[in-house]
Amino acid sequence: MRILRDRPQLVAMHREWARKGRGTIALVPTMGHLHEGHMTLIRHARARAQRVVVSIFVNPMQFDRLEDLERYPRTLEEDSRLLTEAGVDAVFCPSEEDMYPSDGRPPVRVVVPGLSEILEGAFRPGHYDGVATVVTKLFNLVRPDIALFGEKDFQQFKLIERMVQGLDIPVRVEAIPTVREKDGLACSSRNDQLPEEARVIAPELKRVLDEVATVCRGATVFDAERIPEVEGRACDRLREIGFDPEYLSIRRAEDLAEPEHGVALADQDLVVLAAAWLAEVRLIDNVRTRPAS
Ligand code: PAF
Repeated sequence: MRILRDRPQLVAMHREWARKGRGTIALVPTMGHLHEGHMTLIRHARARAQRVVVSIFVNPMQFDRLEDLERYPRTLEEDSRLLTEAGVDAVFCPSEEDMYPSDGRPPVRVVVPGLSEILEGAFRPGHYDGVATVVTKLFNLVRPDIALFGEKDFQQFKLIERMVQGLDIPVRVEAIPTVREKDGLACSSRNDQLPEEARVIAPELKRVLDEVATVCRGATVFDAERIPEVEGRACDRLREIGFDPEYLSIRRAEDLAEPEHGVALADQDLVVLAAAWLAEVRLIDNVRTRPAS
């Protein structure tokens, strides 16, 4: 496996691949500290393309809190070992200076209006501008045919899908279902930061989301007042368990807009999304009310 630490190394690899026959390229963008969720994306990538590139870059532009950026685990040596075992062709791990050269000018940003401002975007201002910007840069640099993302950050996937469509970026983006620990906790690079007692409680987030999804599946008559009531009760339940929820929201899976008025929730394709703090770790998760089509 090649370890590409800067743009010139990436350009050299492209030149070599062009000489040998480029083949299809799949990109799995990550911030490292790889877990089973990432490895699943990589296996899907392997099955879809001749060449698999994984990027590892802890993107400062998408962090809204400095202490979160500083605390984010960086484990390149262990990650490289896992990627070699998984048969990845190249890992692109540029420096901050390489991605955002300090030329005295503010960096160019990519903004996806609407989707970047709601839910996660409302609680983490600027976060999705950082994501959209770095993913655009990675697409331009790696030039993949396919890029894979986890559904755990469902809003992120929807935002990238919209960005690709809106900017005519020639890449197919695919979402892969969330990978979970045996007890239901969504795999995340942040799970290691949970103290032992909090780790025991953490899977309850998924259970509460499942309960809300069950209510939606059973709601055969549309009743607008029920939505905030169900969301509110679920947040209370999370507080009782020990979480500090930022939001829990029932949205349309297609575009994350509020459920359609007048149509029973049971007849809509919905997703229940939540973000909640637990022992100073911010967890996000979501559950679809219907199997993804
Ligand atoms: O989901 C992530 O790990 C990051 O947001 C991504 C897509 C790699 C962009 O930095």
